Amino acid sequence: MLKLDLSKAAQFLPEGYLAQRQAGLEKAASMLASHDGPGGDFTGWVFLPRDYDREEFARIQAAAKRIQQQSQVLVVIGIGGSYLGARAVVELLASPNYNLKKKDTPDILFAGNGLSTDALLETIALIGERDFSVNVISKSGTTTEPAVAFRIFKAMLEKKYGKEGAKERIYATTDRARGALKGLADAEGYEEFVVPDDVGGRYSVLTAVGLLPIAAAGIDIEALMAGAAQAMEQLGKGGLDNPAWQYAAARHALYESGRSVELLACYEPPFRFFAEWWKQLYGESEGKENKGLFPASVEFTADLHSMGQYIQQGQRLMFETVVKFAPKGEFLIPDDPANVDGLNFLSGKPLSFVAEQAMRGTILAHVDGGVPNVLLELPQISEKSVGWLIYFFEYVCGLSGYLLEVNPFDQPGVEAYKKNMFALLGKPGYEEMKAELEARL
Ligand code: PA5
Repeated sequence: MLKLDLSKAAQFLPEGYLAQRQAGLEKAASMLASHDGPGGDFTGWVFLPRDYDREEFARIQAAAKRIQQQSQVLVVIGIGGSYLGARAVVELLASPNYNLKKKDTPDILFAGNGLSTDALLETIALIGERDFSVNVISKSGTTTEPAVAFRIFKAMLEKKYGKEGAKERIYATTDRARGALKGLADAEGYEEFVVPDDVGGRYSVLTAVGLLPIAAAGIDIEALMAGAAQAMEQLGKGGLDNPAWQYAAARHALYESGRSVELLACYEPPFRFFAEWWKQLYGESEGKENKGLFPASVEFTADLHSMGQYIQQGQRLMFETVVKFAPKGEFLIPDDPANVDGLNFLSGKPLSFVAEQAMRGTILAHVDGGVPNVLLELPQISEKSVGWLIYFFEYVCGLSGYLLEVNPFDQPGVEAYKKNMFALLGKPGYEEMKAELEARL
């Protein structure tokens, strides 16, 4: 499925870097497979494409159908790992313009991923008088942003459809046993889906967290899982010829030789949110104990006309990972007998040929500018290739975290802002902290 090309990083990589990491990679792969490394309790995603709960999967498909029949809009409430995966896949497979398209599936609006009043008001206005359903997603069930948004949309649903009617339109994805959302869902009788105990937020896109909104958008989630299962089979075999091992070793070697930023680039605009998902995956997994590559992203060719300058000549901080998909169709550039724009040297050539040369030229220019380049080439964007790529990035992230000797499955740093916010908002139990923080403001 994937062709990994490290030839344009080779000159920046120390000799023997892969063999030197063989033992580390073997250990990392074994810890992922046996769930006994740091954070091993959160490695349920490793075999998820094989072991996922078939009964729940069928309920997800049925709920998606029901949502499609009952509503013109699905409001998906969640933040971080309970948001980015669904949006990434919907945008990559169904387009960032999905809501503008004529279709027989509902618009998907995302809420609870921030605290912007303007964004909330806009979402409400976009729903307008249309029928809507809500999928509220929170593993902990206590995260402030989605909890506040859910309170608002629940009240809107109850006003519009009554308490019983609202109940039929609310789908709760949360912990199997704990948390405020679980308690509320049980008490009100919402249809519930589970975030497995052993899968953390940023690894949860292939659970109900991502799958329900993705299926509601009409995307084939069986094919998505099949792509991930194929990656699981192939990458789990390990070995120095394994692309996941090679990529993890290269990014670790580049990090150790002084690179501090990994810039993920793609030439397909619908990839933008996939890159946001990728940034959370790597940022939260590796960025701890004062270590880790800073994950950043660009959209080419558009960003060649903005960030391109920095990449070419700014501080030599980064290496670049380019994701290249094969095009789905072909568009030939028309001839113009007058050739006023001087472009007739391109007449009759496919646009994809121009894009390919832009990519090749950019890679060479960036390498000349001192930016190592890793190229990931994939077939067309499809459920299968996207499922494969999700698993690939997750697996490389697990290997990379262990090579870096951090726990890739916790996120202790995310708690700091939450505690401060609770204190400043006056949440009971945070009184002392509130006084201390206010004195510092
Ligand atoms: O990856 C993570 O664990 C976080 O990004 C969480 O997904 C995010 O904070 C939302 O948490 P929850 O699903 O508990 O509301």
